Amino acid sequence: METPPSELATHRFEVRSFRRRDTEPLLEAVRESITDLHEWLPWAHLAYGRTDAIRFVRETGRAWREGKAFDYAIRRPEDPDRHLGNVSIWFVSRAFRAGEIGYWVRSSDAGQGVCTEAAAAMVRLGFEYLGLHRIMLRIAVGNEASERVATKLGFIKEGVLRDELQVHGTWMDHTVWGMLEHEYKRARDRFDEIIGGPAPRPAG
Ligand SMILES: CC(C)(COP(=O)(O)OP(=O)(O)OC[C@H]1O[C@@H](n2cnc3c(N)ncnc32)[C@H](O)[C@@H]1OP(=O)(O)O)[C@@H](O)C(=O)NCCC(=O)NCCS
Repeated sequence: METPPSELATHRFEVRSFRRRDTEPLLEAVRESITDLHEWLPWAHLAYGRTDAIRFVRETGRAWREGKAFDYAIRRPEDPDRHLGNVSIWFVSRAFRAGEIGYWVRSSDAGQGVCTEAAAAMVRLGFEYLGLHRIMLRIAVGNEASERVATKLGFIKEGVLRDELQVHGTWMDHTVWGMLEHEYKRARDRFDEIIGGPAPRPAG
């Protein structure tokens, strides 16, 4: 498999792989948002610091090179050094062409459709480029903003995974949401509208 493009353009954002110099902007965005992130995300501990950000940037580079997971930084082209959040796609099963998407957006830019636009670009990448058959999201029960993103993108809520993840010592049920290849194909025009910009070239 070819690695996916390191940069994607959407209507309002550039969505691109991490470089070493992204460490400080990432850290600044996480620190600003830590209360919101900590509520739902296991990695977002309250003392998140430079070492964590350095490790993330190093590990995302390795996962990318190994073709396992693809983390993207979300930025505005007119303000490229301000980190808006992360959106990622990774393989759950290569054999069955299944993938998963994850995301977070910094608190001061939430509620402006940043996540929906960037996650839509991941959906398109997953189906059109990585050749996935199914993409899933796992969302902690009670995370209404994330559920809203899933609904806006057209994911179907499929069920509840009990005690799926431990978030800072508390086991949390998660809903699982799925989208299948044929559902995406039916909704392709809507995705083109949300994302704008050219679709990445599909892998064979
Ligand atoms: C979830 C998250 C990524 C959403 O990012 P975002 O850029 O604000 O998302 P969007 O603006 O595209 O869409 C958010 C939607 O949720 C709605 N929303 C926000 N807070 C809400 C709440 N408490 N209850 C219900 N809906 C809510 C917004 O109004 C918006 O819907 P609308 O477009 O119909 O008005 C962001 O809030 C976040 O990073 N949260 C913390 C980390 C996290 O939960 N990550 C996801 C783990 S699965």
